[in-house]
Amino acid sequence: MSDGSLPPGWGDGTRSVHAGDAPPVPGTPLRPSPVFAAPFHLGDQPPRAGGADAYARTEHPTSRAFETAVGELDGGRCLSFATGMAAITAAVMALVSAGDRLVLPADGYYTTRLLARDELERLGVRVEYVPTVEIAGVAARGDLEGARMVFLETPSNPLLDVCDVAAVARAARAAGALLAVDNTTATPLGQRPLALGADLTVGADTKALTGHSDLLLGHVSTSSDEVFDRVKGWRDHTGSTPGAFDAWLGHRSMSTLDLRLTRQGETAAAVAAVLADHPAVTGVRWPWLPSDPSHALAARQMLRPLGIVSAELADETAVSRFLAASRLWTAATSFGGVHSTVDRRAQWGGDAVPAGFLRFSCGIEDTGDVVADLTAALDAA
Ligand SMILES: Cc1ncc(COP(=O)(O)O)c(C=O)c1O
Repeated sequence: MSDGSLPPGWGDGTRSVHAGDAPPVPGTPLRPSPVFAAPFHLGDQPPRAGGADAYARTEHPTSRAFETAVGELDGGRCLSFATGMAAITAAVMALVSAGDRLVLPADGYYTTRLLARDELERLGVRVEYVPTVEIAGVAARGDLEGARMVFLETPSNPLLDVCDVAAVARAARAAGALLAVDNTTATPLGQRPLALGADLTVGADTKALTGHSDLLLGHVSTSSDEVFDRVKGWRDHTGSTPGAFDAWLGHRSMSTLDLRLTRQGETAAAVAAVLADHPAVTGVRWPWLPSDPSHALAARQMLRPLGIVSAELADETAVSRFLAASRLWTAATSFGGVHSTVDRRAQWGGDAVPAGFLRFSCGIEDTGDVVADLTAALDAA
């Protein structure tokens, strides 16, 4: 929970390292080791007496340490989950009921839309799909009246459109709707949805928050005790808690979040400039390019540049030639890791994007090397 235990003046590097730290105790490790246990000794006490652990499906010391860290960065109370989708499912299912109206981005992460289409609609939730760039307009017109929840994803994956969280939060509150924001692409250091007025924020920590492409994790943070209790109840009942090793690895990986995001943002600036100048490329999107339609809003709402850039090559063959010529841009899905990767989104189906549409995820290699490799591979494409 964000209880102000990190001094307000500390910078992102210091916060990344110290978030979730317990007060130092001589002779103990700087960062607690994972606690591997399903049941814990109960002794002659009733379960959870004095806050003692009883059974790890509901929570365990290692998930709590990770949650304290993420909650401190988010500015709320955090619950961790085995994957980003488990966190999103919990956020929606714990708070939305049959017959409720849910406003969802029409162009957000594909599996979130599948969750809505194949599961939530089946259970009687009235889902309304609105393009990210239109949600603020819908909110401003007063059209959120009667909605139970508005779910935003900003910047959206993969098109990188940005939505005005504070404006939608005001309208949602006036309409009596909850606002949830998928903050995966930005991370808690890049954008603070709770401070902008959202009721809850969710993250696929599989991506940049943990950032090494070696684990799946997710979280929900909120400043509302009521929302926290509902989501915690969902997690207790459905068992989507992360295991101790993953929670520990996630916490360890977060220590370098500021360093990684800084390098990724610098590289993304150079990558966006090369892509924008190259004759083989069209449709470059990066919210920090002054020409980008999201630039003004991103500069106002976000705290640092993204390491993700999207752009289009002519077609699938051009993408194959690009990949064959590149040494550093690896074909892989996901994003936010230490390796520079590129994903041709059309190959997955689901996103309404052209065959040559690419999502570039800048890693933490030397910017000069990544840019030189990009230029040479584009020339070959
Ligand atoms: C924006 C966004 N939200 C949620 C998810 C789901 O995360 P996970 O794969 O950890 O379930 C993803 C995964 O790509 C994503 O990009």
